[in-house]
Amino acid sequence: MILVTGASGYIGSHTLVELINAGHTVIGVDNFSNSSPAVLNNIKKILGVQVPFMKLDLSDQKAVETLFEKYPIQSIIHFAAYKSVGESVQEPLKYYRNNLLTLINLLEACKDFGVDRFVFSSSCTVYGEPDSMKINEDAILATHAASPYGNTKKISEQIIQDYCKIHPLNCALLRYFNPIGSHESGLLGDEPNGVPNNLIPYLTKVVDGELPFLSVFGGDYDTPDGTCIRDYIHVVDLAKAHQMAIEKIGSGAIQGVEAINLGTGVGKSVLEVIQSFEAATGEKVNYKIVERRAGDITAIFADPSKAKDLLGWATELDLKDMLKSAWKFQTTKKAKH
Ligand code: UFG
Repeated sequence: MILVTGASGYIGSHTLVELINAGHTVIGVDNFSNSSPAVLNNIKKILGVQVPFMKLDLSDQKAVETLFEKYPIQSIIHFAAYKSVGESVQEPLKYYRNNLLTLINLLEACKDFGVDRFVFSSSCTVYGEPDSMKINEDAILATHAASPYGNTKKISEQIIQDYCKIHPLNCALLRYFNPIGSHESGLLGDEPNGVPNNLIPYLTKVVDGELPFLSVFGGDYDTPDGTCIRDYIHVVDLAKAHQMAIEKIGSGAIQGVEAINLGTGVGKSVLEVIQSFEAATGEKVNYKIVERRAGDITAIFADPSKAKDLLGWATELDLKDMLKSAWKFQTTKKAKH
């Protein structure tokens, strides 16, 4: 049985669907701090079955122990974490406490219950401001990531590395680039509580009239069109990578700790994303170029060759698929209200 933490969150919910479709037995947990129980109903609509789920706060160590006593958990995919870069700058202790304590509680359970397969949700933010735009896993990590959120990912990776020196654990540290898009049904997607910080959920709300305009942060970067470049990856491709990672760990193909980039290998600027959205959906995006946002990196994209070699994984969906599905999620949501 695979434990999926943060199961009703954006990436967790998509991964649950892929795992069940591939025939895995899972138990999902979440405390709904940044998601809603309605997500579980939507997963049920997609799959036609109820996914085993427990409402649980992973920072409660006793509750974690009870979970492991109750279910025969053999492996873990750990998504649950706070993830707002800006909020982490304002409330660093909240981020260090939650993101590190929940990981430590899970590793304690791995030790006590003999769990030796783990997939950790990491981020390209661990690279900080990189020396080259295309980055592989051997790049030196930032001394300090750009935010407390980023630091929690970096420290979490170190905690796992240190744990593995003493205890048997095979682990994939999956470093995501920029996950966007939605399940093809339009029923799952990126739905943070409050006003979104990330580009695509903000953009779709602007196009839908919920927000007045999109601020493009900075038009004077050293890039071909002056806006920042990122590696946008479809959340369904990302979810499949988690499924493949846990399978490779299970088959012994991944031993010890492996950091793996998950991206397409192609960088796109903010203006290119806006143009692609308009071309993919026929909708107009109302945007203004404004001041740079503090902490933004000029350009970063993945060298995804290790993911291909180790997992046999590569992305299948392109930017148009990502943007069309993100728009479908926004319009499906609206139709329901
Ligand atoms: N952007 C805008 N306007 C917006 C929001 C974003 O122009 O309203 C731009 C940003 O400046 C950036 C790009 O769109 O150039 C993408 O921004 P996001 O906020 O969507 O994503 P980030 O690249 O800043 O952050 C993502 C993840 C973080 C992770 C980080 C690592 O959301 O979890 O990558 O680089 F830490």
